[in-house]
Amino acid sequence: MGLLDDRVAIVTGAASGIGAATAKRFVAEGAKVLLADIQDEAGEELVTELGGNTAFLHTNVARETDVEAAVAEAVDRWGGLDVIHNNAGFVGVTGPLEDTTDQEWHETLDVLLSSVFYGTKHATPAMRERGGGSIINTASVCGLVAGIGAHAYTVAKHGVVGLTRSTALELAEYNIRANAVCPGYIATGLSAGRSVSEVDQDELQARLAKARAAMDNSQPLPRMGEPSDIAAAVTWLASDDSHWVTGTTQIVDGGLTVGKPWRKQPGAMAEKRPIRMYAPGSYE
Ligand SMILES: NC(=O)c1ccc[n+]([C@@H]2O[C@H](COP(=O)([O-])OP(=O)(O)OC[C@H]3O[C@@H](n4cnc5c(N)ncnc54)[C@H](O)[C@@H]3O)[C@@H](O)[C@H]2O)c1
Repeated sequence: MGLLDDRVAIVTGAASGIGAATAKRFVAEGAKVLLADIQDEAGEELVTELGGNTAFLHTNVARETDVEAAVAEAVDRWGGLDVIHNNAGFVGVTGPLEDTTDQEWHETLDVLLSSVFYGTKHATPAMRERGGGSIINTASVCGLVAGIGAHAYTVAKHGVVGLTRSTALELAEYNIRANAVCPGYIATGLSAGRSVSEVDQDELQARLAKARAAMDNSQPLPRMGEPSDIAAAVTWLASDDSHWVTGTTQIVDGGLTVGKPWRKQPGAMAEKRPIRMYAPGSYE
């Protein structure tokens, strides 16, 4: 028996990285999965690999009509919708604010934030019809702290966390839960510096190997995260095992946002020293 037997799910950004890992895990747990992405070839290839309980639909998540069509496709094909993983993303515009154009700003927010609004909006009636559901939004550690990602990325991911919380409050009475995952550094095309669509697989693997070597020591748990680490958290949030969990941000970052590990701060904290004795008042 799988955690998601007979559940119908949509995963956006499912053609690669975290979305592809989530789609694979969902299928392994018994779900039927609509893969929604703009990378048609990679999406179709994954459907061939995963088999009959999956389908691919070209979906640009920055367009409301595309997201609406993805929800309609899942409902038509499998009779309803239980789970949506609003996950598609890219780095978007980088650099100083004064060099950022209005168009670059809005395009970035459309892909990273408006997409989550569209997914939530159109999944809601289908989930209400079903008597409940689970919405899982991929935010980021950049949704919690500034300085790790670019301006617009940071703003969009903070927005995803806020949207998740306010969604949870509105939809709780329909038994629809909304939670965010906040990945740290994960070995995907995005963190390897370019969209996977722009590089061939060998080049991508070489870039990922470099990224792992560079990032392995960046967080307390001394390895870079893998897409499957995030897929595991998303699967739990999609399943009944988390049925009393809503409005949360599940941080999956190897301890990155907790602080510096001991191995990076030798001396004061890590060194065992005798407790200093003092008499009351002696420190005045
Ligand atoms: N990799 C990391 O370190 C990391 C950390 C925190 C959060 N994230 C977030 O995780 C999510 C997945 O990214 P990833 O790391 O797996 O990267 P990835 O590049 O491997 O996957 C992103 C997927 O989204 C798709 N996509 C991009 N724009 C789209 C659009 N307009 N419409 C539909 N699909 C689109 C891409 O085609 C790709 O398949 C993103 O939201 C990203 O911001 C990633």
